[in-house]
Amino acid sequence: MTVPLVATAIAHPNIALIKYWGKRDVAENLPAVGSLSVTLDAMCSRTRVCFEPGRKGDSVRLNGREDAGAASRISACLDLLRRRAGVGHGALVDTDNDFPTAAGLASSASGFAALVTAAAAALGLDLPARELARVARLGSGSAPRSLFGGFVVLRNAPDGDVAVEPLLPAPAWPLRVVIAIVATAPKETGSRDGMAASRATSPYYGEWLRSHDADLEAGLRGVRDRDFAALAGVAEHNCLKMHAVMLTTRPPLIYWSPTTLACLQLVQSLRRAGTPVFFTIDAGPQVKAVCEPGAAALVRDALAAVPGVMQVIDSGLGPGAHCTDG
Ligand code: PMV
Repeated sequence: MTVPLVATAIAHPNIALIKYWGKRDVAENLPAVGSLSVTLDAMCSRTRVCFEPGRKGDSVRLNGREDAGAASRISACLDLLRRRAGVGHGALVDTDNDFPTAAGLASSASGFAALVTAAAAALGLDLPARELARVARLGSGSAPRSLFGGFVVLRNAPDGDVAVEPLLPAPAWPLRVVIAIVATAPKETGSRDGMAASRATSPYYGEWLRSHDADLEAGLRGVRDRDFAALAGVAEHNCLKMHAVMLTTRPPLIYWSPTTLACLQLVQSLRRAGTPVFFTIDAGPQVKAVCEPGAAALVRDALAAVPGVMQVIDSGLGPGAHCTDG
């Protein structure tokens, strides 16, 4: 069988409403806890993978620039797919994000979801999502969630790997996510190093693991019942619990800026005044405000008026990773 050897895919970042922080197996990059996310439609990673006969090794361009740092994680994913396809060629990988990279906007999730989708297509592999998820999670623990659209759950599977499942398609509960960009510089401590340090040093890490399943189940119930208030309560609590672990890591992981806190407090005051909105924050300073569609304009304007907010992105929920014309 001849295979195309080249393909392009698009994937969107996802934002976790119930977070993953910590790994149970560092070498295998297996998350310690499950997570629940929404896939966004406003931003995307576009990745072209071209396997070249005779080429040794892989070469990676990120936003038009050679990126040797990303190459080893990318090659680990490509090696698995090459082995499945019985192909030995090295690849040229070209990936572009239309949003800030490595600043807490899940660029690694969309990047690795697009990578494995494009690479599998280029190699003529028609893999079920479960298999693709297992390749994608080697690159980024949250990447399997970007394989699907809408609301997505990632769990630890009984066989010791991960299992990713779509929970609700985007149109079934069309929430909006308004993102306040408060800084665009790459973060000082990436999530891999941060998670390892939290596991080794935070006195709250054990409690985070112990109480996480209950948060995940409450989050899943909130989504299944379309119960905004219930989802808001558990999502904010779970986010702050993750940041409590980060803050109590040694040395501390302080991902917030003063503007992050100002946005968080604004979202809380809006909700107290009756606006259906809640916040979530990842390993970076940006604040994501999740709201019902009718509240998006108000939330967008209110966040844009916070001193220090550089840009506001108003996103709907988007589709999963898919191939596109090169
Ligand atoms: O996918 P990673 O390894 O970059 O880790 C993501 C960690 C958080 O964004 C903080 C939480 C999450 O579940 O997305």
